[in-house]
Amino acid sequence: MAAVNHTEAMAEAVHTLHPAESRPTLPLLEARQQLGGLLAGESDLIANAANMSAFVNGVLPDLNWVGFYLLRDGELVLGPFQGRPACVRIPLGRGVCGTSAQQRQTLRIADVHSFSGHIACDIRSRSELVIPVLNGDELVGVFDLDSPIENRFSPDDQNYVEELVDEFVRNQFKA
Ligand code: SME
Repeated sequence: MAAVNHTEAMAEAVHTLHPAESRPTLPLLEARQQLGGLLAGESDLIANAANMSAFVNGVLPDLNWVGFYLLRDGELVLGPFQGRPACVRIPLGRGVCGTSAQQRQTLRIADVHSFSGHIACDIRSRSELVIPVLNGDELVGVFDLDSPIENRFSPDDQNYVEELVDEFVRNQFKA
């Protein structure tokens, strides 16, 4: 019985750590270059947001949802994504996405159940990373990543995805 409990405790501990196998499958520089190549020849926001979502889903393991919410008439509206069907409209200031958009700050949430106002689109989501997409001072929307693993996103992951969002913005809104 004690052995079973120990095993269960270990499994829980491992599950809540940032697992080594959740590291990106491409180094950052290479990922930026590949993403840039993917986006460079196209100017359509929806097409590029769709490819960005698919690209990030391919390089970051252990995601159950990744995609965009785009600012439309003062609220966030579901954009291109990979994952299960999701909530369509999120007011600014609501949930992790709406809060990130309103504050124009990245939110890295280790346990979504501890975030007051979290909107559960997919009950599998345990941790979340939301990065505002800004074209200069203009809020374009947010890029949202969900994982079924608690504490999935490390500070390095945050930096990695922020760099990819920067690459997206640089390609999409080049002057
Ligand atoms: N959890 C988000 C809603 C979007 S889904 O995760 C795709 C939130 O609290 O804003």
